[in-house]
Amino acid sequence: MKYIFANWKSNKNLETAQQWLDDIGVVVSEHEIILAPSFPLIGAIYAQALEKNFKLGVQDISPLSAGSYTGAVSAVNLEGFNVSYAIVGHSERRHYFEESDIDVANKVDQAIEAGITPVVCVDEEYIESQAYSIDRKQYSKCIVAYEPISAIGTGDEMNQRKVREVVKRIKKAFGDVRVIYGGSVTGDNVNDYFEVCDGVLVGGASLDAEKFKRLI
Ligand code: PGA
Repeated sequence: MKYIFANWKSNKNLETAQQWLDDIGVVVSEHEIILAPSFPLIGAIYAQALEKNFKLGVQDISPLSAGSYTGAVSAVNLEGFNVSYAIVGHSERRHYFEESDIDVANKVDQAIEAGITPVVCVDEEYIESQAYSIDRKQYSKCIVAYEPISAIGTGDEMNQRKVREVVKRIKKAFGDVRVIYGGSVTGDNVNDYFEVCDGVLVGGASLDAEKFKRLI
């Protein structure tokens, strides 16, 4: 069993999200297919997505517990929506929202406490520092995503040999953790990554229902 994450990022509205689900139909796969829409969309479509055999993920989670933190979405807010995974520390969050390794470590704590599996995104420069920031007792409860910034949204996917190498480095830092790859994954290259890691995180190629169906 491999993991296939569809990270919609901040794309789609209620109508286009529903249309995507209608177009894709019921998922039949030996793999775990996780849909990660934006927060309002997960509230609107979670029941329909579960019916179609998707698991659900969020793209972020507050580093703080529930309380007076205007604009934050806490683990408590997610209760009842059957969220199984939380992507944390995506390079877009680190870049545009200035998230640090420590912020990401706090998000990992919040997710795990709520029974949600964190998907910790790293590029090569911060594999070790990110691992160091997270309580090592949490490692085995995480999935780590190797997300080379040069490959995200560029069509310039990382070659299999390099991914194999970095997976080794991630396991050295995080122990025997599950590792997935993200960066310009499509139906054409997904099998290369399945050979060297536990799954993929898909951005662009998850937006079109037909393309994503083919990838699955
Ligand atoms: P992409 O995004 O598939 O569009 O390259 C991947 C990601 O951000 O993880």
